[in-house]
Amino acid sequence: MQQALRIEKDLYYIGAFDEDIRTFDIIMKTANGTTYNAYLLKTKEGVIILDTVKEEFQDIFFEKLESLCRYDQIKYIVMHHLEPDHGGALPELVKRAPEAKILISPMAQPMLKAITNTEGMEFETVWTNKELILGDYTLRFLSTPNLHWPETMSSYLVEHKVLFSGDVFGSHYLDARVFNDLVGDFDYAFKYYYDHIMRPFKDDVLKALALYDQLQIQKIAPLHGPILRKDASAYIERYRRWSTKEPKHLGKRIVSIFYVTSYKNTKKMAEAIYDALETKEEIIANIYDATALEEANMLNILEESSGILVGTPTINGDAPKPIWDLLSCMMLLQKRGKSAAVFGSYGWSGEAPMMVHSRLRDLKLRTPLEPLKVQLIPEKSELLDCYNFGIEFGDIVNGKMVEITL
Ligand SMILES: Cc1cc2nc3c(=O)[nH]c(=O)nc-3n(C[C@H](O)[C@H](O)[C@H](O)COP(=O)(O)O)c2cc1C
Ligand SMILES: [Fe+2]
Ligand SMILES: [Fe+2]
Repeated sequence: MQQALRIEKDLYYIGAFDEDIRTFDIIMKTANGTTYNAYLLKTKEGVIILDTVKEEFQDIFFEKLESLCRYDQIKYIVMHHLEPDHGGALPELVKRAPEAKILISPMAQPMLKAITNTEGMEFETVWTNKELILGDYTLRFLSTPNLHWPETMSSYLVEHKVLFSGDVFGSHYLDARVFNDLVGDFDYAFKYYYDHIMRPFKDDVLKALALYDQLQIQKIAPLHGPILRKDASAYIERYRRWSTKEPKHLGKRIVSIFYVTSYKNTKKMAEAIYDALETKEEIIANIYDATALEEANMLNILEESSGILVGTPTINGDAPKPIWDLLSCMMLLQKRGKSAAVFGSYGWSGEAPMMVHSRLRDLKLRTPLEPLKVQLIPEKSELLDCYNFGIEFGDIVNGKMVEITL
């Protein structure tokens, strides 16, 4: 039997445990389930609910809530994040506590009705340094967009020094003992969650950390997984380390060439491009056969590369699967500031380079060069074209101004 848990004086955990979930948001594996964390704060002037749970788990959420207060005592519902794993029980909560006012970020305003399909919800918007003072407690709000959705925010309970961080510092890790000093080793889940949810938004993570740095955080209460009441700062520092670019190449820029090839035609093109890039002192060029790269390594290479070159033959009017796998990895990365270009050998129709070029452009990488195509086996003059393509791309990565083609 799950019960509400006391975290601090007047502050309780009223979240739900999802034992059976094995895939979260399509992209994540959840080996031992997850938790949908929600919190309840009692003040002298009424109750504040912080987030709800996934709809299927609302019974246990309401049971825990009812063990602590009456619905007519609820004055505010703070929604740090509207994704259905946290907003699922909101429509029912609003029915039961119609007097309560919902507090959301301004970005959440257009989403609130779309995600609850409920008319006439009473809400107010809050942002960085706005405060809710109720009875003997102060809740200070912090805008932390994109972590995980554009509307996501955090808040800080001044009197207890507790940070409600939203999805930030979350883990898909279910352990009914809840507190980080009592549960099993969830380090892998903490990193895995970061890699899948936060990694594409490293700059936003650093902005959020700059806000958190102004606070004296003793406990972190995230929306998933353990509550971090021991060594909270260690978790903050891990996020900082993972989100900070390492200056390991001493000012040089990495350009990575990924190719696939059946008869070495595209490979020859890749090598000519590589030779050109090797002449540039400010660039470290690397060349990889994409069929032989593990996804985790692909991700790390893509992340550290300022320039990405993709070499693809055309097979059955398309680029082969390893190339699309490479491109789909980009979903998990921050793409701002990266340049990309495409090349490849073809037999007769040669669609693949343009398809890949369009995809890279749609992903918002800079793609100023038209794809370079060679029919079948590249001859000497065509290898020279490849070399020049490499020189031009190197100049782009080095910041030389180029005309942008659409
Ligand atoms: C199974 C297969 C399907 C192909 N389909 C196409 C195609 O649809 N359009 C095209 O332009 N070339 C097609 N080609 C030709 C290749 O793109 C061409 O041989 C190219 O030079 C291969 O480069 P690579 O040695 O780098 O793999 C096909 C080749 C194979 C083996
Ligand atoms: Fe989320
Ligand atoms: Fe979540």
